[in-house]
Amino acid sequence: MKERIIHLLNGKPSDTIITAEGWVRTKRVSKTVCFLELNDGSSLSSLQLVIDLENFMNTDILDSIQTGAAISATGVLVASPGGKQSVEMQCTQIELHGEAGPDYPLQKKRHSLEYLREIAHLRGRTNTMSAVMRVRNEISYAIHTYFYEKGFTYIHTPIISTSDAEGAGEMFQVTTLDLLNAKRTEDGQIDYSKDFFGRKASLTVSGQLQGETYALALKDIYTFGPTFRAENSNTKRHLSEFWMIEPEMAFCDLEGDMDVAEEFLKYVFSRVLNRCEEDMAFFSRFIEKGVAEILQQVIESPFAHVTYTDAITELSKNNSSFDYPVSFGADLQTEHERFLTENVFKGPVIVTDYPKEIKAFYMKMNNDNKTVRAMDVLVPRLGEIIGGSEREARLDVLSDRMKELNLIPEDYWWYLDLRRYGSVKHAGFGLGFDRIVQYITGMQNIRDVIPYPRAAKQADF
Ligand code: 4AD
Ligand code: MG
Repeated sequence: MKERIIHLLNGKPSDTIITAEGWVRTKRVSKTVCFLELNDGSSLSSLQLVIDLENFMNTDILDSIQTGAAISATGVLVASPGGKQSVEMQCTQIELHGEAGPDYPLQKKRHSLEYLREIAHLRGRTNTMSAVMRVRNEISYAIHTYFYEKGFTYIHTPIISTSDAEGAGEMFQVTTLDLLNAKRTEDGQIDYSKDFFGRKASLTVSGQLQGETYALALKDIYTFGPTFRAENSNTKRHLSEFWMIEPEMAFCDLEGDMDVAEEFLKYVFSRVLNRCEEDMAFFSRFIEKGVAEILQQVIESPFAHVTYTDAITELSKNNSSFDYPVSFGADLQTEHERFLTENVFKGPVIVTDYPKEIKAFYMKMNNDNKTVRAMDVLVPRLGEIIGGSEREARLDVLSDRMKELNLIPEDYWWYLDLRRYGSVKHAGFGLGFDRIVQYITGMQNIRDVIPYPRAAKQADF
């Protein structure tokens, strides 16, 4: 019977003959016994294989088995005399699938995360990266479960898009044109009518606009997919290709939106704490001291709320220590976001009502005509993890705002139709998936929570 190692480690000694498959982490040999640590990625702990050399049939195979080799091991589970695990395998038969020589890059020693990024195709076999991927998987499942149980419909919004959802001009172009020889229009521009889609197309920066159209049909929807941003920011929290979750709710205002964001984050945190105990203990011990306890505290306390205006008052008291001193109108940098959440509120905080100039065109205008119904959820270590808003549901206000920002309303005719037919208040937010993985695991760099990070000048593998 074949079993994943996590199930074997949770099992009891038994006479049943079982087979475990995986990659050898270490090998120790004495005169009479050989110990192999076998890991199959199902858990942080490896299964200890104990081979009695005097009774083992093909001991010469053992010479070819070194760190990194892929093997199947057959035997029975026995109680383990060592304190580390409760069971180990008394192994009577081994099949060697693939050897790994002394040049295998993951020899048993500590490797820096920077080095592991250079061997991203193998780093899944390390404790840290396999724990990150298991937790990433659990977070993804928790997200779908939360929305499913709340009656949201998962909508697959397009990845190739012809509208700039954030209006920020940070899109990667998708084209099949030969750019050197592309046909030009009379005014010297590239003639996109000759391009694959008959017009200029890009990778999406957000599924929100299309998401809104389905929220105004199915009431509560969410998207969960890859998004792309050509922003040239080389930081520990930005990727050019990242995954985003975007719920959108009709008949919902900013207050309702914030309530869902808080409940949703807490739900995901507690699922992961309950279901990834071993991995979270690992992160708490080796990656970010006490991260599991901190998450537990976050679950137990209400998020703080502050308006942008009050946040600026608070921040400006500390202006002398910032690289970028703030005043009303300033976009919050990571240093400001972190100061608010780490020093002022000492936990997650939701900042609302930002000046319209630093937010996207679709946000609902407040009566002051200066600020919009935006909300960002900030968390310690990272700053912004969620950005959301109540949407502008008034056709005239939205069209005027678009013109102010030099967006062409006709290009967004279908989006504006939502305000023409059956318009209703609605709101939503975007959670950066890779950022929540970073927050939960305590990993410092976003490039270490996704298998193959894409960032400016980085698209290897
Ligand atoms: O604040 P953003 O740009 O909001 C939107 O895209 C809205 N359309 C969301 C909505 O209301 N439906 O992005 C949302 C979140 C951010 O809070 C951040 O967590 C993440 O996406 N994010 C990034 N994550 C990694 N790398 C990047 N370059 C990111 N840009 C945004
Ligand atoms: Mg944002």
